[in-house]
Amino acid sequence: MSEKCAAIILAAGKGKRMNSDIAKQYLELDGKPVLYYSLNVFQKSFIDEIVVVAAEEDREYVKEQIVVGYGISKVSQVVTGGKERYHSVMCGLRALNRCDYVFIHDGARPFVDDEILARALDMARNKGTAVAAMPVKDTIKIIDDNGAAVQTPERSCVWQMQTPQVFLYNEIYSAYESMLKDEEELFKRGVKITDDAMVMEMYGKRKVYVSEGSYRNIKITTPEDMEIAKILL
Ligand code: CTP
Ligand code: MG
Repeated sequence: MSEKCAAIILAAGKGKRMNSDIAKQYLELDGKPVLYYSLNVFQKSFIDEIVVVAAEEDREYVKEQIVVGYGISKVSQVVTGGKERYHSVMCGLRALNRCDYVFIHDGARPFVDDEILARALDMARNKGTAVAAMPVKDTIKIIDDNGAAVQTPERSCVWQMQTPQVFLYNEIYSAYESMLKDEEELFKRGVKITDDAMVMEMYGKRKVYVSEGSYRNIKITTPEDMEIAKILL
C-alpha cells in the first residue's frame, strides 16, 4: 500500500501531576529522555513523517538534543504547542504535510511498539479510525459530588484509552476545526476534551473503533509511573 502515514508526537504539556522541575517528557529513563523512546519507535516504523509539538522554550533543545542527537530523521518540524492538549494537536495538524492517516501520540507514552502501530493501521484501514485501548482490570465506579458511588458500569464494556489514535487526516482536521469553533460553548458546559477520539465522537462523521494497545503502553503521569517505567524498560 502506498498511503502516506504521518505522526504527531505531543510534548508541549507542563506535567503538573508529575510535580517535577523538568517536564515529564524530558525526564531520563536509562540515560535518555522519555520523549526519545516513542520517537525512536515511530522512526523505525512504516510512518513517513513526524511532527513534534513542544513548548516554545523547549523547541531548540528538542531539535538539537533529541531529534538531531538521536538521528530521528523523519521529524520534519518541531512546532510550538498550545495551552491545552487539543490546542497542541491542532498545531501539529496544521504543520503536517498532506497525508492519508495521522497517528496522534502522547510523547509521555514511551512504550508504544511496532505491534501497536501495525494493529492500529490495520483497524484504521478497515474502519477509518483506530484508538489504542485496553479493557480495564479494576471495577470502575461513577462517584457523585459527595464521594458516594452511584453507578457501576459493566466492567467488560469499560476500556482505558491510550495513544496512538489514528484517523484519516482530512476527517480529524475538520472535526478539530468544528470543535475549536465551539470551544467557548464546551467551556461553559464544563466539557473537557482529553483525547482525539472525543473530538471525532462529538464533531466527526465516523465512529471511533478501539484497536488493541498494550498494558505496557502506560502514560507517564505521576511520580510512581517513572518507577514503573524503569522496571518496564
Ligand atoms: N500535551 C501537549 N500540550 C498540552 C498539554 C499536553 O502537547 N497543552 C501533551 C503532553 O506533553 C503529553 C500528552 O499531551 O505528552 C498527554 O497529556 P498529559 O498526560 O495530560 O500531560 P500534561 O498535560 O503535561 O500533564 P498534566 O495534565 O499532569 O499537567
Ligand atoms: Mg494534561
